[in-house]
Amino acid sequence: MVARPDMSVDLGRLVLKNPVLAASGTFGYGQELADFCDPALLGAVVVKGLSLKPWPGNPPPRIVETTAGMLNAIGLQNVGLESFLKDKLPWLVERGVTVVVNILGESVKEYAALAEGLGEAEGVAMIEINISCPNVAAGGLAFGASPEDTARVVQAVVEAARQPIMVKLTPMVSDIVTVAQAAVEAGADVISLINTIPAMAVDLENRRPALKNVVGGLSGPAIKPVALRLVWQVAQAVHVPVVGGGGIMTAEDALEFLLVGARAVQVGTASFVDPRSPLKILEGIEAYFRKNNIPELSVWAGSLNME
Ligand SMILES: Cc1cc2nc3c(=O)[nH]c(=O)nc-3n(C[C@H](O)[C@H](O)[C@H](O)COP(=O)(O)O)c2cc1C
Repeated sequence: MVARPDMSVDLGRLVLKNPVLAASGTFGYGQELADFCDPALLGAVVVKGLSLKPWPGNPPPRIVETTAGMLNAIGLQNVGLESFLKDKLPWLVERGVTVVVNILGESVKEYAALAEGLGEAEGVAMIEINISCPNVAAGGLAFGASPEDTARVVQAVVEAARQPIMVKLTPMVSDIVTVAQAAVEAGADVISLINTIPAMAVDLENRRPALKNVVGGLSGPAIKPVALRLVWQVAQAVHVPVVGGGGIMTAEDALEFLLVGARAVQVGTASFVDPRSPLKILEGIEAYFRKNNIPELSVWAGSLNME
């Protein structure tokens, strides 16, 4: 048995102590769940999507449970850049948390301004670009819907930022590989996927859509097989590290994502079920490696047997 497997992971310009990240929007700003799960023990915490100005989000109900998952239509609610730097980031830095900031905007300019603002901050280890947001100039389609728009936004952020860049892909494209490749060519250090899948639920009793916004993002176990397929496809097609997620509830789920080629994983909806989930998943991966004599993460990652 291996005494202590090496769980560290190399994400290009950033080395993480372990491969388990809390996914954006499901772990707040780290502080909210700290009584249950010490964010400093995780590979990194991806904080709630940040915009230049504060956003109030959508009216309730904006979260609903569905078969094997949940739907959310939070609507980009967040405190905005200035308040994040002043009120949220210092706590994370003091605790020794590896912070990844997920950014969103309605124009390329807005993404670049955010990257510039974050570039001056101490303690932001990486920027994750959420390209599932409406590209208003192109008529409301998400930036991530086309390789060209993806490249434009990634390039602008890469030029404006000091930190390494992770680009988070939406599953809502016909060919995810071309979008991933466009992001890498534009300078992405890391690719992460997947974001939620647009979906709908109905409240039969009231004969109404279950969400005020009608359509929300589906997450949780229901999307895991889709996510696994997309992570597998992208990991084979790009030379940069891939961070996988979507429906990871257990260490076994995480081990599957690592096997198909993810270098690290993001845990989202599981934290709503049990806020200790990211730590339990980390402990479970480590225990599995110990039991199966796997000395380090890199031996496991991408070792799917295709014969
Ligand atoms: C309530 C909620 C809020 C989210 N907010 C964001 C966000 O601000 N930015 C982002 O890129 N992804 C956001 N996501 C997507 C998650 O980070 C994750 O990619 C997705 O939920 C799939 O993983 P999971 O099945 O483990 O939850 C959110 C998800 C949920 C459930």
